Amino acid sequence: MKINTAEFIISNSIVSKCPTDRIPEYAFIGRSNVGKSSLINMLTNHKNLAKTSGKPGKTQLINHFKINNNWFLVDLPGYGYARVSKKTKETFQKFITDYFEKREQLVCAFVLIDIRHEAQKIDLEFITYLGETDVPFCLIFTKADKISKGKAEQHVAAYRKALLANNWEEMPQYFITSSLDSTGRDAVLEYIDSVNQE
Ligand code: GTP
Ligand code: MG
Repeated sequence: MKINTAEFIISNSIVSKCPTDRIPEYAFIGRSNVGKSSLINMLTNHKNLAKTSGKPGKTQLINHFKINNNWFLVDLPGYGYARVSKKTKETFQKFITDYFEKREQLVCAFVLIDIRHEAQKIDLEFITYLGETDVPFCLIFTKADKISKGKAEQHVAAYRKALLANNWEEMPQYFITSSLDSTGRDAVLEYIDSVNQE
C-alpha cells in the first residue's frame, strides 16, 4: 500500500475527545522505548511525524495520525516505566485501558516487543488483558537490526513458547521490523490494507 498523506490530528488523554470519524484505526502499544513512535514514522516515511526519544516515557498521550485521509494510526504512551505496581490494573494507565475498552473504531492493536529480550511479564499481562477485552491484536518484534536473522528466529520461537505456556493456543499474527532499515514495512502495510478491505 502506498502512503500518500500522513497528518497529525490531535493528542489527548480522554477517549471521548478522540476524533469522531468512523474510519478504521490501528494502535501501537508496548513498553516505553520499544519503538512505537519510530515505527509510525517508518511506516509513514516521515522522520518526525511522531515524536521519539532515546529516553523512555516520551509519548504521554493518545496521538491520532490520519493516513491517506481514510484510516488512523494511533501512537500511545508506553507502559512499564515509572509506574511499578503489583496490581495489573494499576500497571496500565487508566486512559490507556479506557482507550482499548471504549474505542469502537479500533480494529487492531499492534503490541510491540523488543526482539532482543525474552518474554517480559508485563507484556504477557498486557496481551492477556487484550485477550480478555476481546481486542484483536498482532505482535510486532522491533529493533531487528540489532540482532542476526538467525537469532531473531530463535527469539520469536522462544516467544511462541512463552505464549503457549501462558494459555494461548497459537502464536498470533506477527511481524519482524526495524525502523532503522524499514524491515517489515511492506508486510505491516499490506496487513493493514487487507484489514481495511474487510
Ligand atoms: P515511549 O514513547 O517512551 O513509550 O517510547 P517509544 O516506544 O515510542 O520508542 P521511540 O520510538 O521513541 O524509540 C525509543 C528509542 O529506540 C529511540 O532512541 C529510537 O531511535 C530507538 N529505536 C526505535 N526503533 C528502533 C529500531 O528499529 N532500531 C534501532 N536500532 N533503534 C530503534
Ligand atoms: Mg513514543
